[in-house]
Amino acid sequence: MDSQTFRTVLGQWPSGVCVVTTAGPRGAHGMTASSFSSVSLDPPLVSVCLGNHLPSRALLGEAGKFALSFLGKDQAHIGRRFAGQQPGITDRFAGLDWITTPNGCPVLADAVAWLDCRVAHAYPGGDHTIFVGEVTAAATPRIISPLLFHSRNWMQIADPLPASVQLTVDVPAGGPLADELRRSGARIRDDGRCYEFLADGPAALPSPERIIAAKRAGHTVVGYVTDAFDPDREDDVLATISALHALGCDEVGCMESERTPASPLQVRRVLQDAVVRVRPAVLRVRLSGQNRLALVNALVAMKSGVTHFDVVAPGAGSAGLPLDDLLHLSRQLEVAGPIAADLALLRE
Ligand SMILES: Cc1cc2nc3c(=O)[nH]c(=O)nc-3n(C[C@H](O)[C@H](O)[C@H](O)COP(=O)(O)O)c2cc1C
Repeated sequence: MDSQTFRTVLGQWPSGVCVVTTAGPRGAHGMTASSFSSVSLDPPLVSVCLGNHLPSRALLGEAGKFALSFLGKDQAHIGRRFAGQQPGITDRFAGLDWITTPNGCPVLADAVAWLDCRVAHAYPGGDHTIFVGEVTAAATPRIISPLLFHSRNWMQIADPLPASVQLTVDVPAGGPLADELRRSGARIRDDGRCYEFLADGPAALPSPERIIAAKRAGHTVVGYVTDAFDPDREDDVLATISALHALGCDEVGCMESERTPASPLQVRRVLQDAVVRVRPAVLRVRLSGQNRLALVNALVAMKSGVTHFDVVAPGAGSAGLPLDDLLHLSRQLEVAGPIAADLALLRE
């Protein structure tokens, strides 16, 4: 096997990206690495492989400790910088926000996660050294979607289409369409099985006691973030989503406002991060029927990992995404949904 083939094959293995840092008598040093791997849970061990010729390898060996900062989807520039791919930069740490771990290594304040390690073993691995670190501290400062590396390209997660979607339908209760939808697995919005509330911001939430009482009463608790796709509110929206999750909501909803139509780009930005914040709870989306991009936004939501949608049946009188539009979209995409519902009923 020639080395070019070997490199090409290795490039087909997608990975996350981290910055390995260490600090010793000669100061702090850091480099980009994708060879991170988890090794053991008890004791907590991880590994990373560093090229024997690299300054990083020597410094890490001397210091006997290292830290790993996992990079987020918006940190490819940091990955490039710590791989020495930004030639003008002499101080790799300059201008970024760092904190110091208990072991004394620098980690990125806005990393997706970081690990603080003591070198437990250093094994020879050909032209690399396999460092096994015992993890002594760890944190997840910023839960966002990770940065990926594949085939020599910086990438992000692009979820495939879901296998199926679940619908909550605003439909006049008691009619034949509501019965049909219920039979095919949809939830009927005013069935009285949910406790729904709206949240404008992370501080405007019901009390934990109220949530516990609703759960005791057998209700599914659904907290909706209003105006969730306003680009000027992105930080606030994500903070509200985290707060709703922490409050114990069974489902967290992102609601498009009638005033600020959502752009597909903003839908992607918010939902990609919302999905990872809310897991394993359900993330649902209530799109507006007034936005000409509504179906594009629904597609983007599905591609971002959302499987739960609020829709409106004819005659319900509210301005959400029409049920028949979403059924049509999911059929075209071969995404399963309550499509057993007799569409003829929709036209009556
Ligand atoms: C995405 C990516 C992943 C990398 N992963 C590793 C790795 O796991 N081990 C390694 O030795 N070098 C890796 N490198 C290369 C180092 O980051 C690069 O050689 C760096 O300049 C080493 O820093 P130093 O010369 O200051 O020691 C990677 C580079 C990139 C772009």
